Amino acid sequence: MILRNFSRSIARQPWIRKAAVSTPLIRDLAWRFIGGETLEAGIATARALRARGISTTINHVGTHVRSASAAVAATEVAIASVRRIAGERLDCYLSLKLTQLGLDVDEALCAAQLHRVLDAAAHAAVFVRLDMEESRYVEPTLRLFDAVRAAYGADAVGIVLQSYLRHRPDDLAREAAAGSRIRLVKGGYWEPAEVVWRRRDEVDGAFLAQAGYLLRHGRRPALATHDPRAIARIRSIAAALGLEQDAFEFQLLHGVREDLQDALVREGYRVRSYVPFGEQWYEYALGCIRRLPGGALDRLTERFRGSEAP
Ligand code: FDA
Repeated sequence: MILRNFSRSIARQPWIRKAAVSTPLIRDLAWRFIGGETLEAGIATARALRARGISTTINHVGTHVRSASAAVAATEVAIASVRRIAGERLDCYLSLKLTQLGLDVDEALCAAQLHRVLDAAAHAAVFVRLDMEESRYVEPTLRLFDAVRAAYGADAVGIVLQSYLRHRPDDLAREAAAGSRIRLVKGGYWEPAEVVWRRRDEVDGAFLAQAGYLLRHGRRPALATHDPRAIARIRSIAAALGLEQDAFEFQLLHGVREDLQDALVREGYRVRSYVPFGEQWYEYALGCIRRLPGGALDRLTERFRGSEAP
């Protein structure tokens, strides 16, 4: 763990970033997780996945903007994205993070930007999903989401709920009862133990219990996981409930467990891949590389420490 944290801080150094972004080896490794640097590249990736029977949600990478002008710029990309999606015959939608639309700057500013995106998305008939971020954003995200779901309808905008949050058991039942379209995830941020389940069996247990609830009570639920045991369990719950295979969908990140994605498609399940694109790809890809088995990140940072020091 100490080595891992050390590698994490090294990898975030500007000189490592600069070396990595311009190095073919890293770009190749990172590229499997990224649609590309531009919206066009993201759409091209979505098109290629569609040819394999995989639906997509694209995401312009970036979070936590610090100024109104950055929030407005991100909003413009989101609006361009929904318009571009509408121009394609793809089963594709947009995922976005509210801190990219200015939630840290001002909630009213963020709400105004979200409305601009949803106006464009409604016009283009493209669904938008609000990703869920660190626990301190859960309350404002749900507040904004509930307001826009009421304004635009549950088939226009959906939400993500995280199973690792140990003190928010009511969110799922409340949102399901409201007819919200929910993507269920285990939860992806480092949070204090008072806030989240930490032990793997606790996180997995909460995820499976909530997945079962969603299969029973949710509206077109999305179960987002790469965990083969969770996927097997979800399949058997769905079969026991007599659900059609297209009553729900599995979601996975682009470039992660492609074998599993293809196998699920072959077996007739709906599969959606989350495809990030944009110039800020490095931090996102770093998170994915860190999760690769076998300490790939440690080996890479050692390599750069030896060769590319400023
Ligand atoms: P688990 O953690 O058990 O992982 C199973 C295996 O998958 C791992 O052993 C690893 O090999 C591989 N793996 C998992 N994640 C990987 C990654 N990023 N890169 C490379 N390999 C990886 N979280 C959140 O807090 N808010 C959100 O909005 C979203 N949105 C989201 C959308 C989609 C489509 C997915 C698939 C996931 C998210 N997440 C998320 C992330 C989620 O909360 C969780 O952190 C990861 O999916 C890992 O959990 P698993 O269920 O895959 O199981």
